[in-house]
Order: sequence, then structure tokens, then C-alpha cells
Amino acid sequence: MNILLLGSGGREHAMALALAKSPLLTTLFAAPGNPGIAAVATCLALDPENHAAVIAACRAHKIGFVVVGPEAPLVGGLVDALEAEGIKAFGPSKAAAALEGSKAFTKALCAKHGIPTAAYGTFADAAAAKAYVTAQGAPIVVKADGLAAGKGVVVAADVAEAHAAIDHVFGGAFGAAGASVVIEAVLEGEEASFFALCDGNRAVAFASAQDHKRLGDGDTGPNTGGMGAYSPAPILDAACEARVMREIVQPTLDGMAEAGTPFKGVLFVGLMIGRDGPQLIEFNVRFGDPETQAMLPRLEDDFLTLLLACADGTMGATSPRLSSEAALTIVIAADGYPVAPRKGGAIDLDGAADLPGVTVTHAGTKTVDGTLVADGGRVLNVTGRGATIAAARARAYDAAARIDWTDAYYRRDIGARAIGA
Ligand code: AMP
Ligand code: GLY
Repeated sequence: MNILLLGSGGREHAMALALAKSPLLTTLFAAPGNPGIAAVATCLALDPENHAAVIAACRAHKIGFVVVGPEAPLVGGLVDALEAEGIKAFGPSKAAAALEGSKAFTKALCAKHGIPTAAYGTFADAAAAKAYVTAQGAPIVVKADGLAAGKGVVVAADVAEAHAAIDHVFGGAFGAAGASVVIEAVLEGEEASFFALCDGNRAVAFASAQDHKRLGDGDTGPNTGGMGAYSPAPILDAACEARVMREIVQPTLDGMAEAGTPFKGVLFVGLMIGRDGPQLIEFNVRFGDPETQAMLPRLEDDFLTLLLACADGTMGATSPRLSSEAALTIVIAADGYPVAPRKGGAIDLDGAADLPGVTVTHAGTKTVDGTLVADGGRVLNVTGRGATIAAARARAYDAAARIDWTDAYYRRDIGARAIGA
């Protein structure tokens, strides 16, 4: 079967490496891909959000299955457009992608089905939102309703900061994504991410992970797209995972199916695990980046078979097999990230890429006259595997140190909390 993988980041590189191992694969195509992905796939220069272009590429290359990496094409209805043309795809319909595309939609679903999450209100105008904040008091969380590339959430320490965040959203900072706000109570505990593979009716646990969103060591500095991750998340033990499946994932699947918008794909459950157990912070409808780079090297079953089962509605009752080994991913960014990352510096991966138990994935690179150069904020991901998170971490940091690139910036403390360092 010919496969088309959509996306261009480290997540998609990790997915490409897993798909490339499948016995079901004939030829792997990727669009737009990146120089790392190009080592295992034929890259096509097209925009994953352009439905007509994706459909034309599927016809030209006899694609049997499209795997969608990022959220924007899903929220934009790409899977619906492909299915209307008889092309099978991994990922939810536009209606089901509302689980990520609208925080108000998800909160209403939680309220209807008793799914544990923070108390909230949804508001379409600033005055009503501010009045609610004043009544509730601070700290309080202000969120733009729609997709805001991870920038639409403010955990406000006082009422004035919350009011400013509300003005920011309604001031047009997020375009249509800021047409309404969700205001919610602050949850306390430890954050973790959980991933479930869903076929519309049935869900199976895939893996857990924790990421590091802040730029600097000790969780300081600005929020980023993620500076590192590890899998599994020690806090999500078997009992907690069972609760997440029972109290959050299955009721969501049942609620979506009941509404006539069944959810197929991977459900990324952002959790706060506190004294009362796991509570939902948010859903995403795709794999996490960089969590995927840490999870997929642990997968022992065939990735493509699992993704096909999601699309075909044939998911088995048992969870995929994952290695008991841990994996840890360091994100290597360019100096100046996230404000003004330095681009164009030459990168030499020799000495790092072929180490045992190490995978280097590309997130923001390009090739210029045969030389690999930095071309983004988050540029590379280095994943180490090991018997423990500490062992995986040692491997990842050893490999990162061997990358020859003057502008490399990365955190030195990925996984510190998990290993008590
Ligand atoms: P989200 O985009 O909804 O995942 O929010 C981004 C980040 O904001 C989360 O990873 C949390 O660190 C934080 N956050 C969001 N909602 C809450 C909440 N209700 N309580 C505490 N922290 C939150
Ligand atoms: N690592 C967080 C995300 O993929 O949204």
C-alpha cells in the first residue's frame, strides 16, 4: 500500500520512521516533509491544507491511506474531503476535530457526560467574561476558544491579568479563534499526556508522556512548542491510566458517537493529575510534538496496522505492545528561539545519528547545496532509549553533545522531575 504522510516536523519524521518499518508499506510519500523524512520517503511539495492538491497527489501516486500529522488540516476538514473521494485517512472528521478546534465544544461535552475537568464559563463578549472573572476571583485561566498555536491560554495570577487576557483575545490577537473565550478554574497537580487510539467506538491506550513547555531549565522563561519529553510518564501508573480510559476517553468516544460525529484517530488527552485523580485540561486530535518522538521508538507492534484499524473501525480490544524501556527526547532549538531563532547555520549530525539506542529527527532543517542547515525555531530532536528514564536521558544528552552546530540551544534538565534529579 502506498502511504501519504502529511506534515513537516519532528513528529512526522518519527511517524515516517515507524511507517517505513511496516510490512504493509509499498512506497511512503510525505508532504511537504523535511530533509530527515526524505531519507525514508518521497517528499512532495504541496500544502497539506489544500484539499484539491492533496487529492490530486493521492490520485497521481495511487495512495491507499493518508496519515495526517498536524491539527490544522484535520480542523479544516481534510479527512472529510478525502473520504468524499473514496480515499482512506487517519484522523478525525472536521466535526470530531472540534475536540481540539473548540475548547467550548469540549467543555460542553464534558459537562454533558460528567467528564472530570475544571469548572468553567464560555463567553462571546468581553464584558460578560470580565464580570465572571470578577465574581470568581483569581487565580483563573483564560483561553481563546479556537486554535491558537498554543498561545491562547493565560493562567492569570490576579483579576487584572485575567481582564487583560480577555481584552487580548477579543482584541483580535487570535482572529476567528478568539471569537469567544473559555474561563476556567485553575487545576492543581502534575501535568501528563495520555494518548488513546480510537476507531469511532472503541479506544485502546497507546502510551503516556510528559513534556516540558518552558524554554529554560527549571521550567523558567517563555512557553514554547515544547523543549523535550519522555515516555512513559511515571505519574500515569496502570490504575491512573485505567481511570483516564474509563472516566475520560470512553465517555468522550461514546458522546461523540451518540452525537453522530464519531471520533477516529488519536485522542491526545492533556491531564492534570491531582488529589482527586485525573482531570482533563484539553484534548488534541493528533499526536503530540515532541511526545511522539519519545513514544514511537517504544512501539513494538506495527504502527501502520494500528492506524489502519482506527480508520477502518476494526481496533482490537488489546492495547498495542510498547517496550518496557523508556525514551527521552531533547528538542534542540536555534539560539534566539522563540523570538528570533538564528537560521542558516550548518549542522553536522555525524557522530550522533548512528549511536545505538538513539534517534535524531528533523524538525526545522533544510538542505542548501548538499549541506544541512537550520531553518526554524525548533530544529532537531534527539531521542535516547534505555532501561530507565535516567538511562534514556544519558544516551540522549550524549548524542546531543556530539551534534556539531554552533547555534544549538537545549535545556539541560529534560526528565529531571521524573528521575528526581
Ligand atoms: P492548553 O492549551 O489548554 O493545554 O493549556 C496550556 C497550558 O496551560 C497547559 O499545559 C497547562 O499548563 C495550563 N493550563 C490550562 N488550563 C489549566 C487549568 N485549568 N489549570 C491549570 N493550568 C492550566
Ligand atoms: N507537546 C504539545 C503538543 O503537541 O501540543
